[in-house]
Order: sequence, then structure tokens, then C-alpha cells
Amino acid sequence: MNILCYLTEIPDGQARGFCIGGRELMVLRLGVEARAYENHCPHVGLPLEWQANQFMSRDGEFIQCANHGALFDKASGLCIYGPCAGKRLRPVAVAVENGRVILDE
Ligand code: FES
Repeated sequence: MNILCYLTEIPDGQARGFCIGGRELMVLRLGVEARAYENHCPHVGLPLEWQANQFMSRDGEFIQCANHGALFDKASGLCIYGPCAGKRLRPVAVAVENGRVILDE
């Protein structure tokens, strides 16, 4: 079982990056739940962030790729604006158990 962090270590509505066995992930907190995606933009495959743990749009409403500005829905990973509109971030299965975010795969 891979424990990533305590959920409370991620501010609600924000995300944090992880590297697990060479795999780059971003984990997003949505209240008492977590979502995770591979940290590769479906546009050209670059990491989403330029600065550590800076994955969100300025208003906090969307995941934003820092490279060309694509915006992604937090809950589904669907790109709703930008050069990869209609594509999705690749989801990673995580669960919250006893307050801890764990990889669930
Ligand atoms: S690499 Fe993400 S929008 Fe271009």
C-alpha cells in the first residue's frame, strides 16, 4: 500500500505533486475526497506545473496547464478550454482511508 500523504496536508481545492517510483502524479483534494491524475498534459505530454505544487488556475476553479493554459475540470480531468479541449488527464486511482491518501491500484 502506497501512502501518499494525509489529506489535510493538501488545502481543500488545491493539489500537490508526487513522484512515486519515477511516476509523476498530481493529487487534488475535493473536500473529504481526493482525485489523482498523471502529471502529463494531454496536449504534448509535458508536466502541468512550472512551480512546485502550482496546478490550479488563478481563481482555483480548474486545473491549469502552465505551458499553454489548458483548463481541466477538477473532478473529471476533462479539458474544457485550450489546445487539448475534449481530451482528459489520465486518472490514477486513489482512496482516502483513515485520513490518508493512498494509491488504490
Ligand atoms: S502542454 Fe499543456 S496546454 Fe500545451
